[in-house]
Amino acid sequence: MKAVVLSAGLGTRFKSDKPKLLHNLLGKPVIWHTVNSIKKAGIEDITLVISQYTEEIKDILENVRYVYQENPKGGTGDALITALKGLEEYRGYILVINGDTPLVKPETIKGMIKFIELTQECEGIKPSGVIMTASLEDPRGYGRVIKDDEDHLIAIREEKEATEKERSIKEVNAGVYILKKEDTEKALKAIRRSEVTGELYITEALNYLAEKGLIIKIFRAKESTEILGINTRLDLAIAESVLRIRINLDLLEKGITLHSPESIWIEPEVSIERDVEIFPFSFIKGKSVIKRGARIGIGSIIEDSVIEEEVQIEPYSIVRNSLVKKYGVVGPFAHISENTVVGEKSHVGNFVEVKRSILKEGVKAKHLTYIGDAEVGRSVNIGAGAVTANYDGRKKYKTIIGENAFIGSNSLLVAPINIGNFGYVAGGSVITKDVPDGSLAVERSELKILKDKGKKKLQK
Ligand code: UD1
Ligand code: CA
Repeated sequence: MKAVVLSAGLGTRFKSDKPKLLHNLLGKPVIWHTVNSIKKAGIEDITLVISQYTEEIKDILENVRYVYQENPKGGTGDALITALKGLEEYRGYILVINGDTPLVKPETIKGMIKFIELTQECEGIKPSGVIMTASLEDPRGYGRVIKDDEDHLIAIREEKEATEKERSIKEVNAGVYILKKEDTEKALKAIRRSEVTGELYITEALNYLAEKGLIIKIFRAKESTEILGINTRLDLAIAESVLRIRINLDLLEKGITLHSPESIWIEPEVSIERDVEIFPFSFIKGKSVIKRGARIGIGSIIEDSVIEEEVQIEPYSIVRNSLVKKYGVVGPFAHISENTVVGEKSHVGNFVEVKRSILKEGVKAKHLTYIGDAEVGRSVNIGAGAVTANYDGRKKYKTIIGENAFIGSNSLLVAPINIGNFGYVAGGSVITKDVPDGSLAVERSELKILKDKGKKKLQK
């Protein structure tokens, strides 16, 4: 099957300078979710109808085709005409879906495809189409579905054009259809623009077919939340909650502990293994992977990172684009970023920042340290307040620290610099020359103790 995604509209109700389909829904653009569901349902041939207003979509989606709708106020019917022009050779069914319907599940799309196959097998008819519907407590804003006793479509009435009585119908059009291309093409040619809005409606094409006695079947979405269309910021906020709850429920089901799941934000491409424990107000973003037994402390942010087995992320820590290896400990209040590797059993503690650095196994930097552009060997101990000065105002330089070295508290390593294996940097030293293996480096002026001078000064 092929799919067509309608994504050229202006989205005026969204009140934004940016196309509504590019707004962020749980870390991914709205349109990404719609297309992802189609792909997961097993459809590979996907055409997106875009316009000059929604062109930016091109930058974010791969392996799809694009066609341009010249007049993005032409309506959903006009958008479909544009798409069908690009599929001239093709005969048969097409999945047509509104781009602003990101919550439709792949299983539901699959179910709809199966439904049309079963109709052919069991009833011996090839319907002209199937439309997805749901019943909503508050159907405002959606097209209302009028059907006969056999569950065949009679008409879809757009709200602006519906009578009082039609508006009281709770079953609505989801904007997800499987349509026989040949029939739809004919219908689109035959129908007129709406007198109310001047748009050509896809729904009007279906009404035309139904009126001609062709069969349009109704397929109900499993959950009514699936059909939510994103027209306003409120819709986006609701969709985000629905999606978040869906992902979190799925994780609970798989054997992951979430404390106060309503406060936890986990994005759709994150992968989490069983027996991971996640504490409240944590954000796990991008393509992060959290392996067995890891614990993510309160208020932490993990983005595009791998957290290996049994790692402990203590509260309020941030890990971005980095790897924390097995049994590592990070935080509280630590910041790890830009391709950093925290080695096995290493401990990066309170108020420590590590950037673009590799820490080997068993490194300890427990308090108030900055490590940037560094390679730190096994079992190195870095004291409180030690800093790698990696930047001279123009360029960044590397610091290399050998195995088992000891970097005393409040020392400054001025890069580029090399500290050898078992090198010892005394606390408070400013190190501007390489320290060979096994050497001690001290840079301190002599300490003076002046008897009684302190008291005198204070009593002045
Ligand atoms: C549409 C349906 C309505 C249904 C609802 C479900 C029509 C006429 N109405 O209404 O029955 O209940 O969806 O959410 O179809 N688009 C284009 N080109 C255009 C106009 C729209 O590509 O010229 C795209 C939009 O980008 C959007 C989608 O089509 O992704 C739906 O358009 P929208 O204006 O949001 O339709 P609704 O008024 O929500
Ligand atoms: Ca819509």
